[in-house]
Amino acid sequence: VMPALFSFYCFVFFTGVAGGNDFQWCFSQVKGAIDEDVAEADIISTVEFNYSGELLATGDKGGRVVIFQHEQESKNRPHLRGEYNVYSTFQSHEPEFDYLKSLEIEEKINKIRWLPQQNAAHFLLSTNDKTIKLWKISERDKRAEGYNLKDEDGRLRDPFRITSLRVPVLMPMDLMVEASPRRIFANAHTYHINSISVNSDHETYLSADDLRINLWHLEITDRSFNIVDIKPANMEELTEVITAAECHPHQCNVFVYSSSKGTIRLCDMRAAALSKCKEKNIFIINIYYPPHQVFEEPEDPSSRSFFSEIISSISDVKFSHSGRYMMTRDYLSVKVWDLNMENRPVETYQVHEYLRSKLCSLYENDCIFDKFECCWNEWHSQVLYLFAIMTGSYNNFFRMFDRNTRRDITLEASRESSKPRATLKPRKVSTGGKRKKDEISVDSLDFNKKILHTAWHPKDNVIAVAATNNLYIFQDKIN
Ligand SMILES: *[C@@H]1O[C@H](CO)[C@@H](O)[C@H](O)[C@H]1NC(C)=O
Repeated sequence: VMPALFSFYCFVFFTGVAGGNDFQWCFSQVKGAIDEDVAEADIISTVEFNYSGELLATGDKGGRVVIFQHEQESKNRPHLRGEYNVYSTFQSHEPEFDYLKSLEIEEKINKIRWLPQQNAAHFLLSTNDKTIKLWKISERDKRAEGYNLKDEDGRLRDPFRITSLRVPVLMPMDLMVEASPRRIFANAHTYHINSISVNSDHETYLSADDLRINLWHLEITDRSFNIVDIKPANMEELTEVITAAECHPHQCNVFVYSSSKGTIRLCDMRAAALSKCKEKNIFIINIYYPPHQVFEEPEDPSSRSFFSEIISSISDVKFSHSGRYMMTRDYLSVKVWDLNMENRPVETYQVHEYLRSKLCSLYENDCIFDKFECCWNEWHSQVLYLFAIMTGSYNNFFRMFDRNTRRDITLEASRESSKPRATLKPRKVSTGGKRKKDEISVDSLDFNKKILHTAWHPKDNVIAVAATNNLYIFQDKIN
């Protein structure tokens, strides 16, 4: 890859102005009702592409999972790269009541994770606050007809009237997609589950709640191993909670978790298991893995305020595809860390620094506790590589950062620009002084419209952005 070509490409990618070779984001699709008053149950709570990007799953506060499938481009509309259409919809979780604790358990889907496809069926994990479920999604386009003991409607036939033996035959029928729960992983979390992550061995996965992380085998539902426990003996001494956790993409013994104090801990299960086994000379199953590496940026005393700790809480942590870096999102910024450097991030990107002067009102309206997620893009064509980061903000704005040129852009998911192929205009927030045309002032941002969940297609420049009850799909536009 030639560096000059590379930065030229990134330049056009982020600004959309360059000779006759425009590269911009344009609207592709929007899902969900246009209604002004949105039902709570319809609010999208997670978005996740499968490993090749052909399937896109969303979960909502009503406990439903909707899967969209990418349909190949049609000849009449060659400019579009095909659309995502509903493939399957099912109720994953129902509201429950914990009678012992007198607590309602919401049906809201906190996370969805796909498993790599191994046969014709697809598998995914979905979780609410307490229970993780493994779903199988399979297609059926044939059905058996001509049973001996049942008629075609499934009613039992009178055995005395059966005079001849029939051989049932498979008949073609309309394609049906069925979702069935294959495993239910329950009763292992006392606190709210915030993360699930499938391990690179494809046999195990971890689930994290506020104070503990458990390791599961995908086949075993009645047992999990507690691998992290930060619950103090006396709950009054509690100063920190786990906010997110993820398995390393290639090393199945390594995982990471972030905390409300802005700390990221990288753990190596192998190292811990070996040392403990040597010490005690026995096989230990329930091992607490002490962090192997702790990543933390020293606080700048000059910017210390009442809100410092709240805004340094990490709401998401993600490994890069190579596993060399990880990215964390806190309230005002996104940071990229090199696994070989613990004391400071290698890159810091400001997401909406203009909110620093608004922290007091954001605290009063609880927005300061919003959990924004972040995602990587490591897209490449034959000659071009692109390393970018995406995360959300308020007013239905979302941000992209180019790691090579350090350029950034603010885009908006809105109904106004939702015409086919409409190009997204970069948005700008004015921070004091004179507001230019096309700029929006900090005071007129709508804090009820927030983009917490976004996903980047793993192989193509297609992004999915959840804005309240709407799912927007955007794609790049090459003229
Ligand atoms: C993602 O879904 C598509 C569409 O069904 C499938 O062909 C593909 O194998 C899936 N990818 C992976 C890696 O699971």
